[in-house]
Amino acid sequence: MKAVAQAPAKAIITGEHFVVHGSLALAAAVEQVVRVEVQDSKHLEFGAQSQLRRSSFLRPSVDIVKRMARKFGFSPMFMINIKSEVPTGAGLGSSAAVMVALTSAISEYESLHLGAREIIEEAMVGERSVHGRPSGIDAAVSGLGGVLLYRRDVEPRRITFGGRRKFVIVLSGRSRRTKRLIQKVTQFRADFPGLYSGLADSVSEMGESAVERLVSGDMEGLGRLLTLNHAALKTIGVSTPQLDEMVDHLLSLGCYGAKLTGAGGGGSVLAVVPEGKEKSIISEVKERGLEAFVSVIPVEGVRSWQEP
Ligand code: MEV
Repeated sequence: MKAVAQAPAKAIITGEHFVVHGSLALAAAVEQVVRVEVQDSKHLEFGAQSQLRRSSFLRPSVDIVKRMARKFGFSPMFMINIKSEVPTGAGLGSSAAVMVALTSAISEYESLHLGAREIIEEAMVGERSVHGRPSGIDAAVSGLGGVLLYRRDVEPRRITFGGRRKFVIVLSGRSRRTKRLIQKVTQFRADFPGLYSGLADSVSEMGESAVERLVSGDMEGLGRLLTLNHAALKTIGVSTPQLDEMVDHLLSLGCYGAKLTGAGGGGSVLAVVPEGKEKSIISEVKERGLEAFVSVIPVEGVRSWQEP
C-alpha cells in the first residue's frame, strides 16, 4: 500500500513580513502542488526520485517524521518520495507545502486520521526549523486551502466569494532565504519602531480592504492595494531593484497592480491583470526571459488517499 498526499503552494496577496509581527495578511492557495508518497521500507529513507534528497528541507522533514513517530507511537520505517511543481525559494511556500503534504501522507499511511488543523500543527515543527520564527501563514494556507485572512495565533478567517479570480505570477529567477529576510525586517522594526508601527497598521487595513475588493470582484481596486503593499515592503527593505523593475514593467503593460509576494529579496511578483489580458501579459514577460503563469483561485487545501 502507498499513501499519497498533495498540498498546494500559496501566494500572499497582502501582508507578508508584517504578519510575522502581528499584522493581518491575506493569502490564497494556488494551483501548483507538492505530492508526497509514503511506502513501506526497512528504514526511514527518501526515494531515488525524491526531490528532497539534496535540499535544505531534508532535516526538517526528518524532524517531523521522528516527532510524529514519538507522539503517535509508530516506527518510522518508510520510503518517502517528494515531487514538487512549486519552485523553491520563489516565495510560493514550497517548504510549507512539503511539510504539510508530508505530515498528511504519514497520517494517511499510519491511519492517524489527523484533521487539517492537526496536520498544520505538526508541519509547523519543520517550518520552524527552516524559517526560525514563521507566522504560520504558509502552512495554514497549504493545509486549509482557499483564501485566508490571517493573523498570527488567531483562527484564520476563510474568505469566500462566487466565481473564480485570476492572478499572474512572475518568477524573478532569483531564490532567497526567508529566514534572513525575516531577520532584516525584525532589525528594521527595532531601528524605526514608530515608522514600523504606522506601516504595520496600514498593511492590516490593506488586508481588510483587499478582502472587500476580492469578494466584490473589484479587481482594479484590489490591484491598487497590491501596488501600495509593494511600496510598504520596499520601505522595510525586502524588495530588490529587479523586483521593483518587474512591478513597474507589469504596471506599464496595463496590470491593475503588482507586488512582490512571499519573503522578497528575489522570489516572485504577483499581479492583478484585466480580464482577458493574461496571455498577452505573460508573453511580454516571457520575452524578457522570465517564467510566468496564471493562477486561478480558490484552490482546495491538502488531501490524502491510498493507492495499491
Ligand atoms: C513567507 O511566505 C511569508 C513571510 O511573511 C514569513 C512568515 O509569515 O512566516 C515572509
